[in-house]
Formats: sequence, C-alpha cells, structure tokens
Amino acid sequence: MNPTLEFSPEQMREYGYRVIDQIVRHLSALGEQSVGAKANPTEILARYHNPPPEEGADFPALLEQIEIEVLQNTLHVNHPRFFAYVPGPGNFIGAMADALVSGYNVFAGTWIGGSGAAAIELETIDWMRSLCGFPETAGGLFVSGGTMANLTALAVARHAKLGEDMQDAMVYFSDQTHSSVEKDLRVLGFPRRQLRKLPSDGEFRLRLDTLRSEVEADLTVGKRPFCVIANAGTTNTGAVDPLADIAEYCRAEGLWLHIDGAYGAAAVICDRGKSLLAGLELADSLSLDPHKWLFQPFECGCVLVRDKAQLRNAFQVLPEYLKDAHGVSSELNFTDHGIQLTRSFQALKLWLSLKTFGLGSFRKAVERGFELVELVESELQKMPGWEIVSKAQMGVICFRFRQGDDAFHLSLVQKILADGYALVTSTNLNGRTMLRMCPINPRTTDEEIVETLRRVDRLATAP
Ligand SMILES: Cc1ncc(COP(=O)(O)O)c(C=O)c1O
Repeated sequence: MNPTLEFSPEQMREYGYRVIDQIVRHLSALGEQSVGAKANPTEILARYHNPPPEEGADFPALLEQIEIEVLQNTLHVNHPRFFAYVPGPGNFIGAMADALVSGYNVFAGTWIGGSGAAAIELETIDWMRSLCGFPETAGGLFVSGGTMANLTALAVARHAKLGEDMQDAMVYFSDQTHSSVEKDLRVLGFPRRQLRKLPSDGEFRLRLDTLRSEVEADLTVGKRPFCVIANAGTTNTGAVDPLADIAEYCRAEGLWLHIDGAYGAAAVICDRGKSLLAGLELADSLSLDPHKWLFQPFECGCVLVRDKAQLRNAFQVLPEYLKDAHGVSSELNFTDHGIQLTRSFQALKLWLSLKTFGLGSFRKAVERGFELVELVESELQKMPGWEIVSKAQMGVICFRFRQGDDAFHLSLVQKILADGYALVTSTNLNGRTMLRMCPINPRTTDEEIVETLRRVDRLATAP
C-alpha cells in the first residue's frame, strides 16, 4: 500500500529515466520500425476487461506491458512514413515540455493560478498572431485541437453576431470543409436547416458566386446570414479557398468570416505558404493546429480572434468563488477567453520548441512538406498506371490507380497497412475513392517516398 501515492526521489528518478529511455529508444529507431499496427479487437478487448486492481504492481513491468501491448498497437503518426490523414510529426522538446507541465501540474486557467504560464501563452499567441498577419487588437488561446478551435471561434461568432437569438441564422461553408465544423455547429445548437454546405469548384474551393447567390436567396426569404467558414488548406486536398475575395465579400455584407486553418495555416511561416494563404490575415477568427504542421505533440490547437474583446464578451461568467482571481484588470484569465476553467499549459511546448530550434528551423521543416509532396507528384508522373486527381498542394496529393474502382482502393489501403512499410489511406473526391498522401514529416527522406510509391504500385499490380 502507498496511500500518499508517492515515491522517494531515487525511485522517481529511476522510473522517470526508464520512461525517457523508452521514448528515446522509440524515437531514435522509428524509421526502422513498421509504421504501426492495429490490434485485433477480440484479443485486446478481452485482455483489457478487468476490474481495477486493489493492490499495486511493479512499475517497470507495467511499462513493458504498455510498450508491447499498447504502444505497439498504435499507428505511429510521428513515423517518417506515416502519410495518412494529417500526420503528427511531433518533436522531442515538445514532449519534454508536456512532461514538465504534467510534473508541475500547471493550472493555466487564471492569472493567480498560473501567471508565468499566462505570460508564455500570451507571448506565443502573439507570435502566431503576427505570423498570421493579424492586427495587434487580436487575441487568442491554446485549446486541445482544431475541433475545439473551430468550436471556440464559432461560439464567439454566434455571440458577436446573434447574441442569444439563433432563429434563422445561416452559416455557409464548402463541401470540402472538415467535419468538425458541422459537429461544432451542432454542439452550438444550429439545426441542419441553418447550415449551407455549398458545392466546391473544380479545384475543391468555395465558390464566391455560389456563396453570393445562396446568401442573397436566404435574405430574400427572410433568413439571417451571419457567418462564412473558409478553408486554409482542406484535409482532403490541401485546397485553399479564395480567402481575400471571400473576406472582402463578408466585410461588405457584415458576415463573420472564420477560417479553418487547422491543417494549413501553419504554412504561413514559409514564403510559399504565405503567398498561397494570402487573405488569411483578413479573417474575423482563425483556427490553426500546432499539433499538425507545427510539429507539436497532441494536444495543441490554437484559435485567434481579430478583436480580442469578443472572446471575453462570449465567454466571461463571474462566479463568487473566482472573485479573487479576477481582482486586477491587467491580470489576464484565460478561462474568460474560452470554454475551459481548468486547462493545461499547451503553449509551453510550442514556445519551448520554437525557442530551442528557432523559427528558421520550423520554416525549413514546413518547406520540406512542400518538397516532399512535389516529389510524390513527380514520381507518380513516371508511373503510367496512376492518375493524379488532385495535384500536389499544401502538402497533400490525391491519386488513383487507373484500373481500380472504389473497392479496389479500399482493399489496397488494407494491403498497405498489412505491408507495414508506410501508411497511405484513401479519400473520396467527386464520388470516387482514391489514395491520398500527406507527407509533411520533415524527417522523411526522398528514398522513403520513392520506396513507398514502388510498394504501393507493386501491391496494386500484384495478382
Ligand atoms: C482542416 C481541419 N480542420 C479541423 C480539424 C480537426 O482538428 P482536430 O482533429 O485537432 O480536432 C482537422 C483535422 O484533421 C482538419 O484537417
């Protein structure tokens, strides 16, 4: 029994070093391992279906069990050949920052609880603000990821534009918008009939003419258009909506413009990304996820709002037991700017890794994603059996085996997963299933791209 749940300094060091050793072993040999595995549900669920243990067990033995049974039964999103979904390349400093935050159990909800943390979060938010070209009036906060960033921004939009009356209030976005937006709007209480999911153009972007005519049609019948959600890098194809034109239109019509840059906005830190993302700086609110293309461990999302006062207007509620936390106006309480009260110190990992590696290294790391996806494209152009459906853009490419139907591509993904060398998954564009690659891990080599495509081709053509 250990009713204080404590260890001696020596034991803590021993256990802690074991954990670090395990992480270092994992990271330093990642490229030599398979890209991950999926457990058989019948086997693993039977194994993990016990009552809580009354007595404690040996920590090193548990660590070993976790390594073998749990961590090996995951897809390694930080693996250099993980090209599926949106990879999470992560970085070691970010992981150490998380350990530090957890070890100290930092409370980043109020100034009194975590003033040092608030100072770092404010500085890091300000870095994101200036990188994205937002004015100094803008503010924001760190959240768990893109879904919560979109939720936070849309809650602000609702409050700023509608107050408490959501009747007939209409929201517009393209059919390429991430599903989290629909989920968030549902959470916020918007019924399906108040959402306008508009067909995108031939390059998977929101069409301004369609947006305009839908808004006009809704106004004619007395509905209340209030918000447009544009994409800065869609999940499917990396498409960037015509942000500057949409922003101009929204401003003229008094519509709130939220940009979902959860995936793509990070590319603003390099020149190519910045020119592709022109207009990003015009949004009323913006989501961007450092746990995607800014190489932070999960969870790390970020939301920026053009007028930071809008955050407090939307979220501040003052109970009697937080009065002493709210005494001084210069002391910023992040709980007033978002949904959570108790919140972790997500900003530290981004701050510490940017300080350690420098923005220049991050810029090169993002640029590498552009190079890698272009290498995929040029290799595919040499492979006659394959057709590129959506060209390389913002780190994403979609392509299909000319002779394969939907079922063929779905079964090809299973073969790629079983092969274990790399992970490439599917998506559906214009009703057709195909493969999609998102090679944004800066540790991926050219050889790994070439070998991945060679294997994919071999698996596709094998009898
Ligand atoms: C464009 C976009 N928006 C939102 C999200 C949701 O982000 P999260 O999974 O961090 O909640 C994603 C996730 O891939 C995304 O690609």
